[in-house]
Amino acid sequence: KTVRIIGAPMDLGADRRGVDMGPSAIRYAELADRLSDSGVDPVDAGDLSIPRAEERDPDASQPSEGTAKFLREVEDVCTRLSDRVAATLEDGEFPLVLGGDHSVAIGSMHGAARAADLGAVWFDAHADLNTPETSPSGNVHGMPLAAALGRGAFGEMPWAHAPRVREESIAYVGLRSIDDRERELLRESEMTAYTMADIDERGMTAVVADALDVATDGTDGVHVSLDLDWVDPRTAPGVGTPVRGGVTYREAHAALETVSERHEADDVVRSMDVVEVNPILDEGNETATIAAELTASAFGKRIL
Ligand code: ARG
Ligand code: MN
Ligand code: MN
Ligand code: MN
Repeated sequence: KTVRIIGAPMDLGADRRGVDMGPSAIRYAELADRLSDSGVDPVDAGDLSIPRAEERDPDASQPSEGTAKFLREVEDVCTRLSDRVAATLEDGEFPLVLGGDHSVAIGSMHGAARAADLGAVWFDAHADLNTPETSPSGNVHGMPLAAALGRGAFGEMPWAHAPRVREESIAYVGLRSIDDRERELLRESEMTAYTMADIDERGMTAVVADALDVATDGTDGVHVSLDLDWVDPRTAPGVGTPVRGGVTYREAHAALETVSERHEADDVVRSMDVVEVNPILDEGNETATIAAELTASAFGKRIL
């Protein structure tokens, strides 16, 4: 199986500069070699070009209600990314998107859901369900799921809304930081949220198995979105929005191994992104290294 690595060094969806270096750092951590060792064929398609924040006005184009910084630029990048992801799938290859901040998932889900009903497993500390109207920050990396679902202002943005992503096919794993208005949105939605408490109670592998059941039920495939702030910040410090009490190194590997076991059995995973690695905030490229290791686990790397 060919895995096409698509770098999306986007930092316009987040407040902290540095996340644009994520793709370089993950490559430096020997992602390609690790994927080869997992038994897949990596092909590196290079990086999408991303506008520099300094040359742009974050407020240049805004939705009629609410705030979404650099919306025009996010639209431009995600439109190109969606095309790349869709073309990769048409070629029979697996799109692996390296972020960049989590706003890139708008493009990867949009592309992966063009020719398929798409479920999603969201490994993240955050719900990423804000709309421009509810966002406390105006940062689009807190909005990708709302965008894919066409909620709020995103309903009028066909580049973002992916009609073949239904909320009942989305499962969170490891949630622990939700904004007040986002909590209301989540409670009223049909999404499934497995929080850190669920992992404590039931163990990671059981929770991920259930999340995969949710995301595969009635869909043609699953998008796996891995935000590195899902991992505990003592283990993965190089992220812009760290939240204490995250998953351990071993839980993280167990989770991605569970994904790969299901994939080996049923060929269910269609696309993946690995996002929010910020080398400037990292300690010795630890977070990028974990990102590369977890990706290898997702593609079948085993101890024996
Ligand atoms: N909920 C916060 C916001 O909307 C933080 C989002 C963090 N998202 C992320 N992908 N790291 O700004
Ligand atoms: Mn997050
Ligand atoms: Mn929809
Ligand atoms: Mn996220």
